[in-house]
Amino acid sequence: MNTPWVHKTSIYQIYPRSFYDSNGDGIGDLQGIIQKLDYIHKLGFETIWISPFFSSPQADTGYDISNYTDIAPEYGTMNDALQLIDEVHQRGMKIVFDMVMNHTSIEHEWFKESSSSKDNPKADWYIWRDKPNNWQSMTGGSGWHYSTERGQYFWSSFLPFQPDLNYRNPEVKKAMFDTVRFWLGKGVDGFRLDIFNVIYKDVEFRDNPFSFKLAPTEDDPSGFFQEAKYTLNQPESFEFAKELRAVCNEFGDRILLGEVSGNKSIIRRFLGDETNNGLGLVFDFEMLGFQFTAGYFHELIQRIETHFPEPFMPVYVFSNHDRRRSIHKLGNDLRKAKLLALLQLTVRGVPCMYYGEEIGMTNLPQPFATALDPIPHKFKLIPRFVFDALGMTINRDEVRTPMQWNSDKNAGFSSAEKTWLPVHENHKEINVERESLQENSLLNTVQAIMKIRNSEAAVREGSLRLLKNLPEGVLGYERKLENESVFIYLNFSDTKREIQFTGVKILFQTARSGEINGGDIQLGGFDGIILKPSA
Ligand code: NOJ
Repeated sequence: MNTPWVHKTSIYQIYPRSFYDSNGDGIGDLQGIIQKLDYIHKLGFETIWISPFFSSPQADTGYDISNYTDIAPEYGTMNDALQLIDEVHQRGMKIVFDMVMNHTSIEHEWFKESSSSKDNPKADWYIWRDKPNNWQSMTGGSGWHYSTERGQYFWSSFLPFQPDLNYRNPEVKKAMFDTVRFWLGKGVDGFRLDIFNVIYKDVEFRDNPFSFKLAPTEDDPSGFFQEAKYTLNQPESFEFAKELRAVCNEFGDRILLGEVSGNKSIIRRFLGDETNNGLGLVFDFEMLGFQFTAGYFHELIQRIETHFPEPFMPVYVFSNHDRRRSIHKLGNDLRKAKLLALLQLTVRGVPCMYYGEEIGMTNLPQPFATALDPIPHKFKLIPRFVFDALGMTINRDEVRTPMQWNSDKNAGFSSAEKTWLPVHENHKEINVERESLQENSLLNTVQAIMKIRNSEAAVREGSLRLLKNLPEGVLGYERKLENESVFIYLNFSDTKREIQFTGVKILFQTARSGEINGGDIQLGGFDGIILKPSA
C-alpha cells in the first residue's frame, strides 16, 4: 500500500507562547521549541504544528497577523524560524505552520490601505458594505464594524479586529498563495488552516435565516438564533480547498489540515472528490465532546470509517488551544487518560495531541475579568456557571498555561519573575521530569504506545475492523496491513473483563498487569491492551 506520509504521520501541537521560554521574558519562543525538540522526538511524534508566531499585535495571541512573512519579536527572528525548520528536519521530523488565511489583523498594511478610502488600490481586498445585513459573527453579535475613515462597514467572521479578506478578488488569492509558497519554499511541511470554512461568504449577502439555536455546537456551527447558511461552508470554499492543494502540490506531499466546523458530510466535501484532491486532513471536532463509553466510540469509529474510507484519513483530536483539556472530561482519572491515549494513537487516523496532554495537564480556572483572551470580555455579564453547564470554554487562557517541565519555579518553563499566564500549581506533581521517572505514568504510556505505532505499520496505516461480541463496556478493533494484524481492546468499564484469545503476545497494556491464562486475557478496570498474533 502506498499511504502518503501525510496520512500516517502523528501531530503534536505546540502553543509557542507556553512551550518553553529560552530568554527569560516569561513568553515561550522559537529557540525554546528548538531546545525541546528532542523531547518531542523521544515521545515519538513525527510532526509538530505550531500556533502562529508571526508579526501580530497579539490581540488574539497571534491569530491576528499583521505580516505573514515576519516573526513577532517575542518569539524570535526569521533566522530562528529557519533554524527551527532545519533542526526539525535533522531529526527526521516535520513542521507545520498555522496559516490564518481568512482574516488579518486590523494592523496589517493591507487593511490600513483598504480602509483608507473607497478607491485605493486595495479597496476591494476586504469585505466592505454601506449597510450591514443580519449576519452574526462566530463569536456572537453582528460581524459588521464601522470604519469612520472609509465610511463603510467591514466584515469580521471572528472578532472585530480580525477583518476577513475578500477571496473573490484574484489579487488577494494570489497574495495568499504567494505567502503559502514563501513558507513552503523555506521547507515548511504544510499548514494547519484556521477557520477554513468561512473563507467565502455569500456573494449576494443574503440574510441568514432565523434559527432557535442559541449556542453553536461542534457538528452544527449555527447559533445566536441564526442559521449560518450564507456565512459558512459556501460551495466556493470547497473549490478553494482544491486550488490550495494544487499550490501545495507544486512542492510535493505537504500537510493541509483544515479547521472546519460542521458535520462529517461537510468535512468530507473539504477533502475534495474521490481522489482526495482537496485538503489532505480535516479536524472532526465532534469528538471533542466525546462520552467516555465503549458504545460512543464504537459508533463514532463506525461513522468515521463510513465517511472517510481510503483514500481519506480521519484526524483524531481531543483537545486544543481553544477547548478544555481532555482530562477534565475524564474526572482527572489517569486510567481513563491512558485509555483515551491508547485509542487516539492506535485507531485508523492521524492523531493530533495538544502539548501537555501527554502528562495530563489540567485546566487552570481564571476570572473572565482579567483574561488576556478577548473572548471572555464579550461575555462578562453572563455568569460562568452557564458556560460550564453548556460545556463551553470561554476563557481560553485556562487551557493555555505554561508547559509543566519539572517541579521547579515556573514549572521549569521560564526563569522570569512573571510568566505571561500563571503556571498551574499542580506542576509539583504533574510534570515531565517526574513522570519520566514513573514507569507507569501517562507520559511513559504515551511514549510506549507511540513506539508501537512507529514500529507497527499496521497501526499507522492498516485498515480497521471493529470487533463484535465483546464483553460489555469493551471496545475492540483489528488493524491490518497485508498479513500483519494488531488487535486493540479497551475496557471502558470500571470492573475486570476477560477476552478470549489464543496465540498472541501482549505488545502493551495500559495497566501493565497483562496476564495470559490459557486462552483468557484479563483486563482491569479502564485497562487497554495491544495484542499481536505470535508468528
Ligand atoms: C480558530 C483558532 O483556533 C482560535 O484560537 C482563533 O481565536 C480563531 N480561529 C480566530 O483566528
